[in-house]
Amino acid sequence: MGFTLWGPTTISMGFIPVFMMYAAGWRRSILKFSRSSKMAALRSRKVVELFYDVISPYSWVAFEVLCRYRSRWNIDLQLRPFFIGGVFKETGNKPPGLLAAKYDYAQHDLRRLADFYKIPVKMPPMERLMRRENVNSNRLLTAVNLDCPEHLENLSRELWMRVMSRDQDISDPASLETAAAAAGIPSGTTPQLLRRIHDDDVKAALKDTTNQALAYGAFGAPTIVAHVEGTPVMIWGSDRFPLLAHMLGERWEGPLREMAKY
Ligand SMILES: *[C@@H]1O[C@H](CO)[C@@H](O)[C@H](O)[C@H]1NC(C)=O
Repeated sequence: MGFTLWGPTTISMGFIPVFMMYAAGWRRSILKFSRSSKMAALRSRKVVELFYDVISPYSWVAFEVLCRYRSRWNIDLQLRPFFIGGVFKETGNKPPGLLAAKYDYAQHDLRRLADFYKIPVKMPPMERLMRRENVNSNRLLTAVNLDCPEHLENLSRELWMRVMSRDQDISDPASLETAAAAAGIPSGTTPQLLRRIHDDDVKAALKDTTNQALAYGAFGAPTIVAHVEGTPVMIWGSDRFPLLAHMLGERWEGPLREMAKY
């Protein structure tokens, strides 16, 4: 009894154990190859930094889109919470909402974006955005990024849900504690994280991140920095994703609403 392998060669059943040994060897080398090509892919992952502030509604859009595309594109997404107030001060830019026509436009624009991207973003009242104490949320995010970065994504999302969807406070410690709990941060960790808001190293880290964004040429939020062939490319705003995909050598597949968290 025999069968034909790749054309005229006929092998009998007696050869099968030998053949299987060869096959096992192939499998090992294929596994080794796939491991090494995975390593190479990891090494070649392009770093994309997202500088954001939770009082920026357009930052939320960029955040969700990049979190969705993180699993589609060969990128290493680095979340960089910064302080937009510092960027405005340093560059002389102003919050867009201060201009009445822009504020009105943003309300309509965000409603359309909410539907397109499936993100429950709304423009909150200007007074909510202008609270000085909102900096506490920037400092808390910085502390989380330093001490327990695994919670940064969920906490950012929860703070946006509060301020940009439910018109809730993000400056009082009680609000931040509620947000931390909703983000899944263990309640035992939260008091220490809230104390960190006053620590010099946290303040310095926030300033440092903001200065790094400024050094890339930031003047607003979100600021996306794509590192392409060793060159950082700074992109402002949340409406240049097709261009970002092109620069990264990836494909823009639209809003990926099926991946929405809401
Ligand atoms: C983040 O939130 C999701 C639910 O939206 C949850 O499944 C996940 O465990 C959370 N991550 C952490 C690190 O708590």
